[in-house]
Amino acid sequence: MRQIIIDTDPGQDDAVAILLALASGDALEVLGLTCVAGNVPLDLTTRNARRVCELAGRRDVPVMAGCDRPMGRALVTAEHVHGQDGLAGPDLPAPTMPLDPRNAVDFLIETLRAAVPGTVTLVPIGPLTNIATAFQRAPDIVARVAGIVMMGGAHRALGNVTPAAEFNIHVDPQAADIVLRSGAPVTIVPLDVTHKALVTSERNAAFAAPGTRVGRAVAALTDPRGRESARHGGQGVPLHDPCTIAWLLAPDLFAAREVNVMVETGSELTMGMTVMDWWGVTGRAANARVLHDIDADGFFDLLTARLARL
Ligand code: BDR
Ligand code: CA
Repeated sequence: MRQIIIDTDPGQDDAVAILLALASGDALEVLGLTCVAGNVPLDLTTRNARRVCELAGRRDVPVMAGCDRPMGRALVTAEHVHGQDGLAGPDLPAPTMPLDPRNAVDFLIETLRAAVPGTVTLVPIGPLTNIATAFQRAPDIVARVAGIVMMGGAHRALGNVTPAAEFNIHVDPQAADIVLRSGAPVTIVPLDVTHKALVTSERNAAFAAPGTRVGRAVAALTDPRGRESARHGGQGVPLHDPCTIAWLLAPDLFAAREVNVMVETGSELTMGMTVMDWWGVTGRAANARVLHDIDADGFFDLLTARLARL
């Protein structure tokens, strides 16, 4: 059983990633959800994380509030994708479970210090502010992390929020830079992969088919006619964040390569761009395993089957 902490800014696709993890109790133990500002401000990401836990019938999962803004920049949000409250689509009630009073950064530090080294995996699916803040405040925890499996960045897919940058990295490039330079084992799920994980109308219908509350909610969260659909030839919308959990459950669905990745933190034009040394031309040591291909049908089969358990 792998222990994970999901660091998240729900967010429609974050919600599906959390549900996939909670549906996979045979393989993953979710120690907590550490929330960060990203798709929507922190008060909404903490609210949405609890709405998702309650949807899954998991009020026992601690949900904590972390950083409310990036390390050195103003917060950029994505209501235009995820809706004003961050979870457009399903009609999920306001949460009744309380927010855990612990601070998310403190929780990351204390959990890693208390655990056997190499047993806790971090899964950041939003801006990396909480993780980088924890690493800065407690450098000793870096060596204790089993791995970091993050959604963010792009190689050939370039950007989705600017021509050069992917949203999670663009929102807090400084934090991404700290994490990538930390020496922790990092696996990156970039847009190159997630743009192949398109929710088509058939895949969307399959989510709803079991007739469960979770199935209907996921179908509503992943409307294939959503705003990003036009960019993908009207074929569907990308399901970014659940790919991280799928990698933990079924790595054979992906192809990967070890490369050096650096983040642009200086130029406004390309702020947050992930520069991936695909051909090893710089001589810089690899600092990340970058996923670059996915068996999309296998991924959706896995996701649909697991969500039907909830
Ligand atoms: C990432 O940005 C967010 O809007 C999504 O939740 C995902 O984590 C994709 O670029
Ligand atoms: Ca996200």
